[in-house]
Amino acid sequence: MQRKRRRESISGKLGLPIGCGIDVIELPRFRRALQRGGRAFVRRIFTPAEEAYAKARPRTRMLHLAGRFAAKEAVIKAISQVDPTRFVAMNQVEVRNDRWGRPHVTLRDRKKRLKVHISLSHVDTVAVATAIVVK
Ligand SMILES: CC(C)(COP(=O)(O)OP(=O)(O)OC[C@H]1O[C@@H](n2cnc3c(N)ncnc32)[C@H](O)[C@@H]1OP(=O)(O)O)[C@@H](O)C(=O)NCCC(=O)NCCS
Repeated sequence: MQRKRRRESISGKLGLPIGCGIDVIELPRFRRALQRGGRAFVRRIFTPAEEAYAKARPRTRMLHLAGRFAAKEAVIKAISQVDPTRFVAMNQVEVRNDRWGRPHVTLRDRKKRLKVHISLSHVDTVAVATAIVVK
């Protein structure tokens, strides 16, 4: 009984998973795409807050952008498991970090609210992200 209650309180806080997604980005390819696409590409993908986050970390700027790119792809995959007809543009998926550095997602496509948890990681040449939609 106690275990059931604990389980319910954890799922109440975090939500029950209903969709998941993952994505991995190779830095050299991503860098080339950014160079080719220029400002228009950046604006199509990233929000001003995401650009500002990366710009404030010049040494690792490309990794933060690649991590956010991976997170957006992972979120779009996870959403598509829940509703394959829902179209979300890359710059409508916004990643922001809280004061502990934890990344959080906000969907700005003005459709039904969905709660999505993400996690991202990056090393020298690779960025990876996972996303879980919960209800
Ligand atoms: C928090 C921690 C696990 C991040 O590990 P890391 O190896 O530096 O992270 P990675 O390089 O794999 O990934 C970086 C991403 O992790 C995410 N991240 C950073 N801090 C995080 C945290 N506290 N929780 C979850 N995700 C976090 C960010 O999205 C970051 O990328 P971004 O800056 O581009 O948004 C690491 O700093 C750590 O182990 N700290 C020791 C424990 C600690 O102090 N925890 C703090 C809160 S309890």
